[in-house]
Amino acid sequence: MLEATLRPSSLSEYIGQSTIKGHLIVYMEAAKKRNEALGHVLLHGPPGLGKTTLAHIVAKEMQAQIRITAGPAIEKPGDLASLLTNLQKGDLLFIDEIHRLRPQVEEMLYSAMEDHCLDLVIGKGPSARSMRIDLQPFTLIGATTKVASISAPLRDRFIHNFKLSFYTDPEMQLIVERTAGILNVAFDTGAAFRIATSARATPRIANRLVRAIRDFAQVNDESLISLGRVDKTLNELGIDSDGLDRTDRIVLQTIIEKFAGGPVGLSTLAASTGEEEESLEDVYEPYLLQCGYLQRTPKGRMVTERAYQKMNMKMPANAQGKMFA
Ligand SMILES: Nc1ncnc2c1ncn2[C@@H]1O[C@H](COP(=O)(O)OP(=O)(O)O)[C@@H](O)[C@H]1O
Ligand SMILES: [Mg+2]
Repeated sequence: MLEATLRPSSLSEYIGQSTIKGHLIVYMEAAKKRNEALGHVLLHGPPGLGKTTLAHIVAKEMQAQIRITAGPAIEKPGDLASLLTNLQKGDLLFIDEIHRLRPQVEEMLYSAMEDHCLDLVIGKGPSARSMRIDLQPFTLIGATTKVASISAPLRDRFIHNFKLSFYTDPEMQLIVERTAGILNVAFDTGAAFRIATSARATPRIANRLVRAIRDFAQVNDESLISLGRVDKTLNELGIDSDGLDRTDRIVLQTIIEKFAGGPVGLSTLAASTGEEEESLEDVYEPYLLQCGYLQRTPKGRMVTERAYQKMNMKMPANAQGKMFA
């Protein structure tokens, strides 16, 4: 529930992602002027960057109702039909993890998105007949951490396609300060910035860190949170000065020590680190790539020279050549 309290409720409170915000403002205003539903929106990017938050904000700004569901939750075409037929004109349907829609459900979504209608087959066998149901104009907002897993026909039916990016340090600082304000936490000089730069450029992680640090400060009866308290807590949580956590470091170390720097395939890396392939790909890799510790090549994942420096290891002479092979 705290997640909901911390969630910005308007575009002006939503920090960063300025290109997306700028475009959304124009599209929303144009749709309102034409008295139409906003075109379907696809939001993609790593977890915790603000996709769900943005969907709620769009609903609020459009003064529309929002219905929330997730790809795996829609089991049968009939479930989708009942969601869609219950939408009023201009309503939003938010489908999280839209890359996990069942194929039959996805197919049904095509005509709903494009023509605002549903083709249903009623009954079975020789007496089966098809029926067309008209829908109210609505906006689909799809969110995904895996845009590459979305089929082309589905992707092409979204009018607006936004990729959320990692946040800059100054943006992260604003997010940390905003959260601290809501939670009544006071920071000493430098403390907010240290949290901001240790949160993998991800607002959800920043919020989690602020809460953890607040708890550590509370049990130590500190009302003003010092830089020292932040550092101690980060250390306690296994987060280093770049915001990498234990798993990040295990990934880099494994590639260096067990696979001579790579390339190594995703499934092999998952087996060697004991992590799920999915969480490696969706959660860990995007930030390691962003920081320049990791590279994706057609043959698999490789660490960069920066990763060797980070792990205090010497890069073997032949590794440099491999990288450009
Ligand atoms: N742009 C932002 N400005 C301020 N806080 C944000 C922003 N984006 C996300 N957050 C915070 O991070 C949390 C996680 O965001 P969420 O929308 O749930 O991410 P996602 O759906 O992409 O996984 C939110 O509850 C909110 O408090
Ligand atoms: Mg979400």
